[in-house]
Amino acid sequence: MGKKTVLVTGGAGYIGSHVTVELINAGYDVVVADNMSNCDLTCFEGVKEVTGRTDIPFYRIDCCNQESVETIFNAHAIDALIHFAAYKAVGESVEQPLKYFRNNLDSFITVLSVAAGHGGCNVLFSSSATVYGETDRLPVTEESPRQPAMSPYGATKQMCEDILESSVKAAGTGIKGMALRYFNPVGAHPSALLGELPRGVPNNLIPYVTQTAIGKRECLTIFGDDYPTPDGTCLRDYIDVVDLAKAHVAAVGRMVDGKMKKDYEIFNVGTGRPVSVLEIVRAFEKANGVKLNYRFGPRRAGDITAIWADPSLANRELGWTAQRTLEDTMKSAWEWELHLAALNKK
Ligand code: UD1
Repeated sequence: MGKKTVLVTGGAGYIGSHVTVELINAGYDVVVADNMSNCDLTCFEGVKEVTGRTDIPFYRIDCCNQESVETIFNAHAIDALIHFAAYKAVGESVEQPLKYFRNNLDSFITVLSVAAGHGGCNVLFSSSATVYGETDRLPVTEESPRQPAMSPYGATKQMCEDILESSVKAAGTGIKGMALRYFNPVGAHPSALLGELPRGVPNNLIPYVTQTAIGKRECLTIFGDDYPTPDGTCLRDYIDVVDLAKAHVAAVGRMVDGKMKKDYEIFNVGTGRPVSVLEIVRAFEKANGVKLNYRFGPRRAGDITAIWADPSLANRELGWTAQRTLEDTMKSAWEWELHLAALNKK
């Protein structure tokens, strides 16, 4: 049997680039599509360097454009498709909901339509723990009910899950589907050649931490110290991006090897370990031997107290478990920030 081909939309972005590396390492042929709306070529160049592959097919296209997506399906026999091409800033989605609904729904509907038109394929959708909303049943299993979305971004994740499930159920599409619900993806590749490239002031914790440590930001504000948690700060499940990428390889393998138990499956991808904001700060300081300037501030609107995964279904069914320690992750995040600083100096 020849090599299987995986199309990764949004493959030049943060998670997509790490997934591309792990797929290539696992022996897949990968085709990357990206419109570069929220990244530059840094990570894709990093992918080539890390894998030693300079011949990865790259299509600079917008997945909302059906003709462009057709071009890829006409040129390659796609066995599986991983869809990352979407906007992801929660706050921006509240300010510009139509931009989010238009892009995130249209791009997914377009790739699904083209896939169905070509006889179907295995489709893995990049979902999020945000679909669970505010829940007090912790840890969260895949059976936990989805709550009303807390942002248009979250709503697009829920809707895309539903669109995929309906497409799988409909006769004749030839589509099998899987949704991976990520908890908080963090860290960077150990080579420090690919990682997250936040635009402007970061909203997420880890980029804010690393930018503060390097002096780009003056001080990290920890949002709230009076939550009902052991140290008063929020609890999250921080999943290392390389572990997350390996979960995709396991998921694609399950799909292309015909091992799915249902035609539409959902898996949580997390560590199962709740970590507080203060623990992140301490782990970052310890792993890298740097002091972080931080202060406590008021709670951030919309934050939930605690959420973490029950990853046992993914552990069992995908044969995947998060391996990297918090120390590994914090080191990689810092190395990446240092790499970016070095690039800017050139
Ligand atoms: C959010 C999204 C999630 C998305 C993730 C992307 C929601 C409900 N969650 O998660 O869907 O996958 O971003 O990474 O929309 N914090 C500070 N100071 C800061 C920044 C953050 O104290 O400067 C705290 C927050 O209060 C929170 C924790 O750090 O407790 C993590 O925050 P963040 O990285 O923004 O992720 P989430 O809000 O959990």
